[in-house]
Amino acid sequence: MKKITKAVIPAAGLGTRMLPISRTVPKEILPIVDRPSMEYLVREAVASGITDILIITGRNKEAIENYFDYSIEYKDVLAHKNKQAELDDMEEVCKLANIYFLRQKEAKGLGHAVLCAEKFIGDEPFAVLYGDDVMVADKPVTKQLCEVYEKYDKAVVGVCEVPCEDLKKYCSMKAEKIEDRTYMTTDMVEKPQTREEMFSNLSILGRVVLTPDIFDILKRTAPGRGGELQLTDAMKQLARTVGVISYEYEGKRYDMGSKLGFLQANVEEALKHPELKDSFRAYLKDIAAKL
Ligand code: UTP
Repeated sequence: MKKITKAVIPAAGLGTRMLPISRTVPKEILPIVDRPSMEYLVREAVASGITDILIITGRNKEAIENYFDYSIEYKDVLAHKNKQAELDDMEEVCKLANIYFLRQKEAKGLGHAVLCAEKFIGDEPFAVLYGDDVMVADKPVTKQLCEVYEKYDKAVVGVCEVPCEDLKKYCSMKAEKIEDRTYMTTDMVEKPQTREEMFSNLSILGRVVLTPDIFDILKRTAPGRGGELQLTDAMKQLARTVGVISYEYEGKRYDMGSKLGFLQANVEEALKHPELKDSFRAYLKDIAAKL
């Protein structure tokens, strides 16, 4: 079986939930304390055995590409100021993986963004890390999914239990438990609006490992909700024909495409940050006491 060494990170969406900032700053580069969320994603991929990453970008997303390039100005200044640790950190980021960029010329949906990666992927299984979902986990979530792929030789979707009210925004999996955290999935429904339509509380959130047959399915899939080509519609087809595995991953997910998720990620990571954790904790306690 082929080992998974390639990943796609779609990051071309318009980010309307993060307006007005997303008009000029891509939501995928918004900081968690002092690092862009995209760095978290690239590090997760690398820690999962991925060597080649394609980031799908679009207009106004140049900041993402710039972040993974050398900054000659900073290099000179930091060297001059003897700031070796900062210099090493900056250079390490640029060398994390082979990172490629491709523009999705129109934001025609997550499915369309993944389809843009067809030539890059070729005939291999690959991971998709949704560009605005940051995961913090002991074992990288992508690695968890790659291991399940290697065991079952089937596409794997990362799922979480979601309360019924929220399932209406996501999808619901028809899932039969086959092992701890692992479910054989033969169908799914996108944005179920009633309890009757819902198969289960399990919904796909943020990470999937796909087989290359998804590209032909995507090409045959009609645009769905909002006129966009939905990846979920293609994955549903894969589930119905050959089955996919749903895996309830371990880890904390932050939706950086939402204002609340962005704030949660910053507060929780600041509480772990070596420079900030003590002063920030004291500050939070102080303001919490006044709430
Ligand atoms: P989202 O649906 O969360 O992104 O897609 P969005 O469309 O930007 O969100 P809102 O609702 O307008 O706020 C998940 C990921 O897929 C990327 C997004 O950039 C995000 O990281 N995406 C989405 C694309 O690359 N292309 C698209 O056409 C749509």
